Amino acid sequence: MMSFETILVEQRDAVTLVTLNRPQALNALNTQVLADLSAAFAAYDADPSQLCLVLTGSEKAFAAGADIKEMASKAAADFFLEDFFSGWQKNVVATRKPWIAAVAGFALGGGCELAMMADFIIAADTAKFGQPEIKLGVAPGMGGSQRLTKAVGKAKAMEMCLTGRMMGAEEAERSGLVSRIVPAADLLEDALKTAAAIAAMPPMATMVNKEMVNLAFETGLEQGLLNERRLFQLLTATEDRVEGMKAFVEKRPGVWKGR
Ligand code: CAA
Repeated sequence: MMSFETILVEQRDAVTLVTLNRPQALNALNTQVLADLSAAFAAYDADPSQLCLVLTGSEKAFAAGADIKEMASKAAADFFLEDFFSGWQKNVVATRKPWIAAVAGFALGGGCELAMMADFIIAADTAKFGQPEIKLGVAPGMGGSQRLTKAVGKAKAMEMCLTGRMMGAEEAERSGLVSRIVPAADLLEDALKTAAAIAAMPPMATMVNKEMVNLAFETGLEQGLLNERRLFQLLTATEDRVEGMKAFVEKRPGVWKGR
């Protein structure tokens, strides 16, 4: 098991649990967190024994944003030359296997954006989402203006970005930002159970289903539908597809090979 400075990683059967662990900074996302998450997600993606991942924070905060103290001392040229924030897209969003964000407490700025990089968000009733960057004289930089707008529509995204106001769990569910709300005390157990259910599916099919739904965000309808058909056709070539359909006919659970 790898050990990290800013996150905790454990494997529970086929599910990897990653916990953000910078309580002194409400899990603010600094360069080290990105490096640690990049390594943990790459290891997860590469490990055939791991089939779903849950990313969570603490009771008080999933993550309170990019690390303001780290950013405060950087010059504009540093942000540009480092292509600051690009690693999130390259290393975290690029994960091909499914992962869930289990959010309690604050998910602000980069924290909200990190949650939105997940395949879906399960929220505790204590979850609070927001893009307060405007109060710092900046704007979202890890995808918030795009993903929040696609998730909740222009009116709410615009209001949240312009005022910095937070959205509670109820409003987040009503608006389509999160898939479900659970009592805070049940959050982790519920997310792990959901992850285990996904991990029990034919692995290639989970990867393809994820890719397909993401296409709806990334392409036009015509291209998305074409890609969906081709990906569907790709899955018909797997041994697990033959097994899955045979198992249905024989009224028994399928036994997956992952290919
Ligand atoms: N970066 C660095 N440190 C942070 C932080 C952040 N984003 N958020 C909280 N912390 C630190 C605080 O500085 C404080 O540290 P000290 O004890 O050393 O003072 C510690 O975490 C605890 O925080 P608070 O005392 O502020 O806790 P609170 O309960 O009073 O308030 C809060 C909680 C409302 C979330 C408040 O901490 C807050 O407003 N945080 C900043 C939220 C924010 O602006 N996020 C956006 C960041 S910019 C961004 O993310 C850019 C992007 O698009 C990627």
